[in-house]
Amino acid sequence: MNAIIQPRENCKTLTFRMAQMEDAELLLEWRNEEQTRLNSLTTDMVTMENHLKWLRAKQPTISIGMLDGVPVGQVRVNLDYIGHPNLHVEHVLSFSVDHRYRNQGFGRQLVLSQMWQRPLLAQVKPENAPSLRVFERLNWSRSEVNGLVEFRHVPAR
Ligand SMILES: CC(C)(COP(=O)(O)OP(=O)(O)OC[C@H]1O[C@@H](n2cnc3c(N)ncnc32)[C@H](O)[C@@H]1OP(=O)(O)O)[C@@H](O)C(=O)NCCC(=O)NCCS
Repeated sequence: MNAIIQPRENCKTLTFRMAQMEDAELLLEWRNEEQTRLNSLTTDMVTMENHLKWLRAKQPTISIGMLDGVPVGQVRVNLDYIGHPNLHVEHVLSFSVDHRYRNQGFGRQLVLSQMWQRPLLAQVKPENAPSLRVFERLNWSRSEVNGLVEFRHVPAR
């Protein structure tokens, strides 16, 4: 394995579980946390009503990273329409770590957990230094498109 595609050294190991509707409140709290909102492509606060509508309509597959029974972050891969003017569908990864647990290697672990199945795209704002760092450390290929940094990863066969 490429040495760099690894969890951060001395990072505690997360376990993962799939999010359920019962996690709606926690997921909304994470979504509306200030730094997460600023780093999102849509920066508005999300209401519980819209959040529930979105969860029910899209039924997104969200993995929650757990540390000793405590949820510390989430990672999601959606099939989304990307690109202007040539719209096409890609698997888009998004992730966040509870602000109390940042900078301990968990973001890297969340991304790493999704890297083995299919090609992935992540879109990052250029000012989001920790997120840029996570994808760079995992060796995703980088390009700049319409003011965003796009990272792509293709799993080895
Ligand atoms: C982005 C995010 C998920 C990263 O999670 P995390 O658990 O802090 O990530 P990690 O600890 O695995 O890695 C963070 C890296 O950024 C580095 N970093 C942290 N702050 C930094 C800064 N201000 N400038 C440069 N690098 C920084 C850390 O040193 C670490 O790099 P290293 O592994 O080489 O030491 C987390 O910051 C977050 O939830 N942000 C809000 C939501 C968000 O932005 N999501 C991503 C949208 S694309």
